[in-house]
Amino acid sequence: MRKVLIPIIIVVLLASIFILSKNSKQQEKISQESNSQAASQNTPENCSGKALIELTEGPYYKTGSPEREKIAESNTPGEHLILKGYVFDTDCKSIANAWLDFWQADGEGNYDNLGYNLRGHQYTDENGFFRIETIVPGQYPGRTEHIHFKVRKSENSSVITSQLFFPDSDTNSTDTIFDDSLIVEFGTDPDGSKFASYNIIVP
Ligand SMILES: [Fe+2]
Repeated sequence: MRKVLIPIIIVVLLASIFILSKNSKQQEKISQESNSQAASQNTPENCSGKALIELTEGPYYKTGSPEREKIAESNTPGEHLILKGYVFDTDCKSIANAWLDFWQADGEGNYDNLGYNLRGHQYTDENGFFRIETIVPGQYPGRTEHIHFKVRKSENSSVITSQLFFPDSDTNSTDTIFDDSLIVEFGTDPDGSKFASYNIIVP
């Protein structure tokens, strides 16, 4: 009996390993496809070639932000937000390894001036792509919702400072810093998750 059972057990084990490995490869493929589809939402066709407008840094910038994609630490008040896009030059050539530094208020309009919550820098990938995981910023007196950022094409390039805004905010029209060329666009990834996107065009 044992002689019969052992080969059966071995066959069942090998079959399980094969099925698990196949599923894992399929998952990996789905994930890769999803990423490439997500990355293709903002393509060079969406590059206007018009350099971004510089806006004031404001009073809350801090140097030394951590390098990270997820800038909202846990329990940060506000609605979850993915912001992504590409950095281009004015010839619509994507810029790999561009430095980006983001900072913003939380969902209640408060900046973390003691620590580095909602602050983080990163470098674009080989396609000029960037992505941050954050929350929708809240308003504070005199300001509509906005995300601050700095961008630099390379170590020897000058730093450009600006801000991103949100569509359909009723306070955009009363904010004297607001510029409608800096409004993010909302989209939905194939997996149903929502994101905001903006292509940053650097002179
Ligand atoms: Fe601000």
